[in-house]
Amino acid sequence: MKIGILGTGMVGRIHAAKLIELGHDVLIGTQDPAKTLARTDKDMMGNVPFGAWHKDNPKAKLATMADAAAHGELVINALNGHACVPVLKALAGELRGKDLIDISNPLDFSKGMPPTLFASNDTSLGEQIQAAIPGTHVVKALNTMNAFIQVDAKSLANGAHSSFVCGDDAGAKERVTAFLKTAYGWEDVIDLGGIANSRGPEMFLPLWLRLWGSLQIPSFSIKVVR
Ligand SMILES: NC(=O)c1ccc[n+]([C@@H]2O[C@H](COP(=O)([O-])OP(=O)(O)OC[C@H]3O[C@@H](n4cnc5c(N)ncnc54)[C@H](OP(=O)(O)O)[C@@H]3O)[C@@H](O)[C@H]2O)c1
Repeated sequence: MKIGILGTGMVGRIHAAKLIELGHDVLIGTQDPAKTLARTDKDMMGNVPFGAWHKDNPKAKLATMADAAAHGELVINALNGHACVPVLKALAGELRGKDLIDISNPLDFSKGMPPTLFASNDTSLGEQIQAAIPGTHVVKALNTMNAFIQVDAKSLANGAHSSFVCGDDAGAKERVTAFLKTAYGWEDVIDLGGIANSRGPEMFLPLWLRLWGSLQIPSFSIKVVR
């Protein structure tokens, strides 16, 4: 399948590597491909610059955000939370009629660690994105766990843990759920309802961050026991 990934951070890279391994035709979107490849500094989480990662992953193709969005039959949003609404709104034409898996979180690092949420309680980033691109089927998914687990559910507890989808279009949620199961090995995908329910999984982040601080590892996840 042709897949566009918007974002060159840890999430975009990990999804790209996994989907290329699975044989998908992936295009990764960035603001300025030449500048992104020329960077030499690590990011705030200590990840190597994109060019260094690209040398180890030469099959990953880099393009503008618009070209990656146009390329994808399915598009994955792995943008920094602050960038999502303006960037995706500008891509409304390229994204029209498509399913968009939204992995973003509304994290605000401006006051230091741990970050706070810049959208919460009576709003969420997922629903703000959906309002910005009404012609696209936004499905919130995979934002409640580390990127390595997102693409390989079975790497943890043999996959016996839970992920969530929220979205206003039932067909899109079904297609995304099937994709999470077949591509990434998720077995327990819980449908939380419409996109406004993104408030729930996004407001899990303050707890995720504190678990990370206590456990000192990012490889943990939620299991919903019935
Ligand atoms: N890291 C995880 O394990 C994890 C887990 C769950 C959810 N998430 C969420 O997934 C998203 C991606 O996280 P990440 O750590 O991979 O990357 P990130 O550092 O949060 O975001 C990187 C991407 O955002 C773009 N960006 C930043 N500022 C921008 C601006 N002003 N205009 C346009 N684009 C801009 C960058 O563009 P360039 O390519 O041009 O630099 C880059 O592609 C975030 O919303 C994060 O909260 C992350």
